[in-house]
Amino acid sequence: MRLSPFLLGAVALLPTTVLCQLSGKVGPLTTRAAKTAKKTCNVLNYGAKADKATDLGPPLAAAWAACKTGGTVVIPSGNYAMKTWVTLKGGSAWALQLDGVIYRTGTDGGNMIFIGATDDFELFSSTGKGAVQGNGYEIHAQGSRSGARILRLNKVTNFSVHDVVLVDAPAFHFSLDTCTNGEVYNMAIRGGDWGGLDGIDVWSNNIWIHDVMVTNKDECVTVKSPSKNILIENIYCNSSGGCALGSLGADTAISQVHYKNVYTWKSNQMMMIKSNGGSGYVEDVVFENFIGHGNAYSLDVDQYWSSMSTIAGNGVQLSNLTFKNWKGTEANGAQRGPVKVFCADGAPCTDITITDLAMWTETGSKQTYSCRSAYGSGFCLKAGTSKSYAAITSTVTAAPAKYSAATMAGDLKTAFGTTVSIPIPTIPVSFYPGATPYSKIAGS
Ligand SMILES: *[C@@H]1O[C@H](CO)[C@@H](O)[C@H](O)[C@H]1NC(C)=O
Ligand SMILES: *[C@@H]1O[C@H](CO)[C@@H](O)[C@H](O)[C@H]1NC(C)=O
Ligand SMILES: *[C@@H]1O[C@H](CO)[C@@H](O)[C@H](O)[C@H]1NC(C)=O
Repeated sequence: MRLSPFLLGAVALLPTTVLCQLSGKVGPLTTRAAKTAKKTCNVLNYGAKADKATDLGPPLAAAWAACKTGGTVVIPSGNYAMKTWVTLKGGSAWALQLDGVIYRTGTDGGNMIFIGATDDFELFSSTGKGAVQGNGYEIHAQGSRSGARILRLNKVTNFSVHDVVLVDAPAFHFSLDTCTNGEVYNMAIRGGDWGGLDGIDVWSNNIWIHDVMVTNKDECVTVKSPSKNILIENIYCNSSGGCALGSLGADTAISQVHYKNVYTWKSNQMMMIKSNGGSGYVEDVVFENFIGHGNAYSLDVDQYWSSMSTIAGNGVQLSNLTFKNWKGTEANGAQRGPVKVFCADGAPCTDITITDLAMWTETGSKQTYSCRSAYGSGFCLKAGTSKSYAAITSTVTAAPAKYSAATMAGDLKTAFGTTVSIPIPTIPVSFYPGATPYSKIAGS
């Protein structure tokens, strides 16, 4: 783990279990002060203009070329237009300081900002006000979801991304693809109220994602395959799709993932594991301290997920998954109960533990728990390990004890929709009831 001065205190207080899913240090190797002292490349000196009209793409690429070996590229405060995208591939020990706001004006697909094949990297805003406004509504209002993702990191090692805001991506907001030893924190992501506009998708190794808010209608912070040693904490899905593992296909390889302190409001689910056929495994995962309110599904393992077509294979093998301390309420527990564990008949789940889960319905006075081909302990899970079994459902008509849970003051009352501009938010001061961010929010 990166030990910056302000984190030292926090680390000393952390129980070791919090850190156990990481396999080693995360974050850049060189301080940004050292990078800035070595060389600073201000985009304004490379042709950029903070006039919300001049294309930032070429000046940003030029500033990067001059600073990519050990320096800091600076986009100072001000409003910039981005018409062409940048692929910043290579270099090392560099930083990108985004204090301005970048407005998408171009219409290409791909990635507005692609950072690849680099080591010791940091993307940050020194003020907490740096943002990319994707203006996705201009495209979504036409009924289309084609268009750019905002930010993609590929094969980046020893890095951090923090204190920046991503808004209204035409497609996904932030993907971490095949990265190692990374830290992502203090971020607000706000997208349209539509599927396909994912918040954070990660398929990587040894990554700590914490203190992040996502508003959209698809993935909040989702782990895809292959992934190992991923710690995800203090996540606020503020009217989103919710978090997930998946969707999972052939040769899935996900292990040592720990979600902790996840607050989910008016989302599709609190946590979903989604597949339909496929092969490989998901193992050694903990989902701890989840609070939900107003969600459609809560704990939802669905290995017959109807939104994906069936993939060849007996099913992804799920084993040693622990769900503990889940509280709150779901939208309608008779329609979609708080516990649904539907495993593949061809690869029944083993060693699933659901403990200290108490949730109750917001509509009516009953809710269901349902399981299929799932083994372990808690609710409708069958003991042992054996062959497939058909879905079993139990219905309860009394609220469990101690289901009530805190709400966040900032819960989004009305979704942003997809046809009008989405305002750029400030980074919230908390992402989970009672939890303070590990690192101070920049500029606060
Ligand atoms: C990343 O940092 C570690 C030290 O924490 C170092 O051993 C490793 O070589 C670095 N990775 C790369 C690709 O340079
Ligand atoms: C189950 O997963 C947890 C969390 O990763 C891990 O600590 C534990 O050792 C695993 N248990 C087994 C039997 O592998
Ligand atoms: C959740 O979204 C609403 C609507 O934008 C916003 O007012 C609120 O601040 C968000 N929550 C947080 C913690 O930022």
